[in-house]
Amino acid sequence: MMDKETALKKISELRNIIEYHNQRYYQQDAPEISDAEYDQLMRELQNLEAQFPDDDLASSPTQRIGAAPLAKFASFNHPSPMLSLANAFSEEEIIDFDNRLKRLASVDNISYVAEPKLDGLAVNLIFEKGVFTKGATRGDGAVGEDVTQNLKTITALPLKIKKSGQAAIPSFIEIRGEVYMEKAPFKKLNQRRVKDGEEPFANPRNAAAGSLRQLDSKITARRPLSIFLYGIGNIQGMNFPTHWELLQALSAWGFPVNKLIEQAKDINACIRYFNRIGNARDTLPYDIDGVVLKVDSLALQNTLGNISRNPRWALACKFPAQQETTTIREIIVQVGRMGTLTPVALMEPVNVGGVMVSRATLHNEDEIIKKDIRIGDTVIIQRAGDVIPEVVNVIEEKRTGKEKKFKMPAICPECGSEIVRFEGEVAHRCVNISCPAQLKEHIRHFASRGAMDIEGLGEKLSAQLFDAKLISDPADLYFLTKDKLLELDRQAEKSSQNLIDSIGRSKNPPLDKFIYALGIRHVGERTAKLLAERFGSIENLMVAKIEDLTAINEIGPEITASIVEFFHEPKNKAVMKKFEKAGVIPQKKEISRNAPLAGKSFVFTGAMESMGRNDAKEIVENMGGTVNSSVTKKTTYVVAGTEPGSKVDKAKSSGIKIISEEEFLKLIGK
Ligand code: IVH
Repeated sequence: MMDKETALKKISELRNIIEYHNQRYYQQDAPEISDAEYDQLMRELQNLEAQFPDDDLASSPTQRIGAAPLAKFASFNHPSPMLSLANAFSEEEIIDFDNRLKRLASVDNISYVAEPKLDGLAVNLIFEKGVFTKGATRGDGAVGEDVTQNLKTITALPLKIKKSGQAAIPSFIEIRGEVYMEKAPFKKLNQRRVKDGEEPFANPRNAAAGSLRQLDSKITARRPLSIFLYGIGNIQGMNFPTHWELLQALSAWGFPVNKLIEQAKDINACIRYFNRIGNARDTLPYDIDGVVLKVDSLALQNTLGNISRNPRWALACKFPAQQETTTIREIIVQVGRMGTLTPVALMEPVNVGGVMVSRATLHNEDEIIKKDIRIGDTVIIQRAGDVIPEVVNVIEEKRTGKEKKFKMPAICPECGSEIVRFEGEVAHRCVNISCPAQLKEHIRHFASRGAMDIEGLGEKLSAQLFDAKLISDPADLYFLTKDKLLELDRQAEKSSQNLIDSIGRSKNPPLDKFIYALGIRHVGERTAKLLAERFGSIENLMVAKIEDLTAINEIGPEITASIVEFFHEPKNKAVMKKFEKAGVIPQKKEISRNAPLAGKSFVFTGAMESMGRNDAKEIVENMGGTVNSSVTKKTTYVVAGTEPGSKVDKAKSSGIKIISEEEFLKLIGK
């Protein structure tokens, strides 16, 4: 078992890494790792947190659902929290769930409502006196993004509760549901995007999320979004005895409720439903990844209550992955947005659960070695969660001896730069900030809202500027002129001037935004803030040593290696110089009071065994403290090495604390 200190450090680091991937997934709709890898990180964190609970547990990503809201939409406080669901992956787990509830409720049987689990985006809709007044995404479950205008564009969503006969309507109600995109319109949308030179969406879920999060609701209106409603939060002025009756009321009020919902008299009926819906899955016009079981009686739901962020009375039963056999023709390497090299198997096309599959991700070199995957092999592949198919295992009996082993390239296939594999990481990556495969994404990220916030410079224009060779890295933006922009196709006088102006306005960004904008792997918004607080200037960060970085509580070896490597790469160094030359000067930041040595001043006297005076000074300063040469009233510590001088006497007479080298090392966490 890990010692406590190492575990707590690993916990903080995992939280930052997961938060980084949350941003990529939820806010940028551009996931960098597979769901399985994400789940693995989450599981590792959950395990560690269970063994070593700490004070920050409440704000851990394991306790949150999704990511914090985007800065660009107004925040919306959900009147009652939007919960998530516990998962079951086997029949056994479904039966366990039912047994647990029966025990807790001291009853012999429980009846449920079974519903398809749609793969979309959860929303909360507020209706006051029957009128739709506000709608928001889930966000972190407590606070979401106000996307009212965009929701209003979804034609299937009634903006007023329909009155039927004498039946009353609630004076206030939060209605919960899922915004999604059907498979056919999703395909069409992607075809159109490719034709227009835009990046296609990875899957219908990402397309739905990207569409609902448009600042301009006219764009949302053109996207084929659908919605199903499946529950409520707060309700005033009326009550329902069962979930089933509640769904019937929603339907009667005009809301789209999934036609496949069913009442199930016991858990066996639920399991039959699960199998039936699983078999019909590929015939449905939308993606589902399982079914949801909910206790039908609302009184019983109430008694059972919640456990952390999940209601005890509901369960998401996930479908198993679908598998098929095929052969690998070739293994190619793709360079991803962050320079990650992903080996991809090109295979004989095969139908997996209704979808033709000819590519499978091999994730990384370790995975290939572990599974001993070779070119020419016959393999079992699976498609889980509708994303990228993967190889489960090789059928060795089918080997002919002609199969070839795969080797990771030593240089980037896109730009010829050296490929690096960081210690402790499974991925190989191209760390060249100017790699064309990464560059367009880098520039888009650099200019984006949370980063340098350069208005008017979106994905399309970034790519256009790059392709026209007007820029080759983010720093080149600052050398653009209006005349150069006018050379571009369809670039008008006024918009060119506007772009030059907004680029100019971005020259003195807050330090953390600038650090985030650089697109250093694993450095999301939160880590960028920590770095800005600790180092105060970009110059300090650029020369930060491994020990300075790992001295920060929440930063471990993985993030550290990535930062050091980034500023070490000659091409990145050149880009940083160009920023300087262009007059891009991030605002300096006062080194944070949260730094462990903030406000503490040190005086060294005598020789130290473990380090020189300059090293000690640097460490203290990087941790937010100061070092002076003479003892004054403001001195916090005098560090006495061997053969200390008169400073010790002065400290003694002024009552200032004298510490040994050993105590000093403890203080700096060594
Ligand atoms: S009920 C407290 N019902 O799955 C109950 N969720 O993993 C919370 N989802 O956030 C949700 N179909 O986005 C519920 N029929 C359904 C659903 C459903 C899809 C999504 C929803 C939720 C997530 C939880």
